[in-house]
Amino acid sequence: MPDPILKMQGLNAHYGDFQALYGVDMDVAQGEILAIIGANGAGKTTLMRSITGLLSNAPGQITYENEDISRLRADEIAARGLAMVPEGRQLFPSLSVRENLIIGGQIGRKGPWDLNAVYKLFPILEERKDQQSTSLSGGQQQMVAIGRALMANPDLILFDEISLGLAPIIIKDIYEALPNIIGEGMSAVIVEQDITKALSVSSRVYCLQEGRVSLEGGSDTVSREDISRAYFGIE
Ligand SMILES: Nc1ncnc2c1ncn2[C@@H]1O[C@H](COP(=O)(O)OP(=O)(O)O)[C@@H](O)[C@H]1O
Ligand SMILES: [Mg+2]
Repeated sequence: MPDPILKMQGLNAHYGDFQALYGVDMDVAQGEILAIIGANGAGKTTLMRSITGLLSNAPGQITYENEDISRLRADEIAARGLAMVPEGRQLFPSLSVRENLIIGGQIGRKGPWDLNAVYKLFPILEERKDQQSTSLSGGQQQMVAIGRALMANPDLILFDEISLGLAPIIIKDIYEALPNIIGEGMSAVIVEQDITKALSVSSRVYCLQEGRVSLEGGSDTVSREDISRAYFGIE
């Protein structure tokens, strides 16, 4: 087994006195697409925020490309090739589509992704490039958020709620684009509410329940009963 690109060991997370993650152990293999599922409030976004340096971590809890990144700032982590498509997209509302995309590329990593490549992936964004990002539909905004992450030419891309709240036709478009988004050698972590989609797109799946890993398994081997138990805590 090659070294995992990302590894969490005993990861805890807190908001003040409230503990949101308890000793999470998780690894993402090089080139793998990993799915994370779990009910609302299970800790999925907290996990994404810990990985990307938006929450503070204790040393030694997160290793990326064989380096302890637990204590690095968000911009230092991004510069190492770890990009996130955040829940709710979080675009800059006063900026155009093009400007939002350019911001993603500002860390200056080399690779296949630039404005033209993103426009080729999502042609509607080229048509709308001079519009304010907030004038776009939710699905188009999600395309901007994905494009912005790709502009950083990441080695690992995290999607927090990749399809939540989007129209079915847009979800289909985004899933059809996934093989082009997650290119050769890239790794990805996908947080997805739709369990069938999560399993079909990934090689392995983790379920979080109340801040703990309640299930880990191969996406084509875990059973629906295991998932129900891990998801809802039903015996
Ligand atoms: N900023 C915050 N302050 C306090 N508690 C929070 C904050 N963000 C999330 N939480 C709590 O942490 C837990 C995990 O939340 P979250 O990671 O957003 O879950 P998920 O993404 O799986 O829905 C929930 O109980 C939530 O209420
Ligand atoms: Mg969330």
